[in-house]
Amino acid sequence: STYVVIMAGGIGSRFWPVSRTDYPKQFLDILGTGETLIQQTFRRFERLAPLENIYVVTSTDYTGIVEKQLPLMPKENILSEPDRKNTAPCIAYASFKILQRDANASIIVAPADHLILDQQEFEAVCTKGLDFVETHEALLTIGIKPSYPNTGYGYIQFNKEAGKDGVHRVITFTEKPDAQRAANFVSSGEYLWNSGIFVWKARSIINAIEKYLGDLYQLFKEKQNWLGTSFEKLMIADIYAVCENVSIDVAVMEKANNVYIIPASFRWSDLGTWNSAWENMGKDVRNNAVAGNSVLTIDTTQCVVHASNEKLVVLQGLHNYIVVDTKDALLICQKEKEQDIKQYVNEVKKLK
Ligand code: GDD
Ligand code: MG
Repeated sequence: STYVVIMAGGIGSRFWPVSRTDYPKQFLDILGTGETLIQQTFRRFERLAPLENIYVVTSTDYTGIVEKQLPLMPKENILSEPDRKNTAPCIAYASFKILQRDANASIIVAPADHLILDQQEFEAVCTKGLDFVETHEALLTIGIKPSYPNTGYGYIQFNKEAGKDGVHRVITFTEKPDAQRAANFVSSGEYLWNSGIFVWKARSIINAIEKYLGDLYQLFKEKQNWLGTSFEKLMIADIYAVCENVSIDVAVMEKANNVYIIPASFRWSDLGTWNSAWENMGKDVRNNAVAGNSVLTIDTTQCVVHASNEKLVVLQGLHNYIVVDTKDALLICQKEKEQDIKQYVNEVKKLK
């Protein structure tokens, strides 16, 4: 049957000061919708897999937050990681765990912090992917039409001719190219962005991990019988202490030759920055996107404002700014400088 793995261990530093290391963006209501990103992600999968087949993998620091935000989620499906080792170990852990339960399991792997509009189209694409991997030893990803040369994504070149099932064979997968290559990829019209949402059989991804990440595979293989016992925590601590820090994109997807893609047309955003939040939020008549009930804007345009409801915020004469007010930190930053917020966070750490 179908399983879902939600990866929720990242730290989201470009959303400072709302996103903090101890409470990162996947646990926040960045868009002011009344639901946090992980809650939206969880709900997105409700109709694709039974509740007891949905897993969240996150840092030990966040398991309490996950329990609180996803009360319906069985506690034993929250897998906790003692160290941040990127997505390859996270996927290996969840896959071994699921394979132990179900030798024929199919898995949808998804980030916890994306925005997807068009739920129906999303479900249709996932279902198509699940059907395909049922009969192919395939590593399948969902592709998005690129709109600009973002260097933070994976770029996928694919065979334009689709099989009769609408799935395309991948020719090359390039994770986070430099600006020049990204620009070439976009203008060529031959590439899609990797959405970071994958569909595969548990045994197919484990086969690929065996092939391309032999050490990681051995670590899990040797001790797999400890999964589900009182030794699991110890086993994971041992593995994470020594395993390589690497993403599934670099370790497996760039190298494997059984990668497939389904081009999707649902609206998708990785919500990487405040500007992408602004693009996806409702706006007032002056194009301000405001999250928070107690914000008054005067002669202010094109701003994204995120305020806690405990304080009144009044803005006058601001254009194209990010204003984020929290209990203990206030950010006022030009929208065009949003990529630098990461650096400011490092500077702030030195102040303390
Ligand atoms: N459990 C766990 N452990 N989760 C993690 C870890 C970890 O160590 N590191 C990252 N994650 C989670 C993040 O919280 C996020 O939900 C997801 O895994 C992807 O990690 P990111 O760090 O956000 O990856 P990225 O955005 O740089 O790149 C990936 O996503 C792009 C699309 O948004 C790649 O798959 C790219 O190819 C893709 O284009
Ligand atoms: Mg991301």
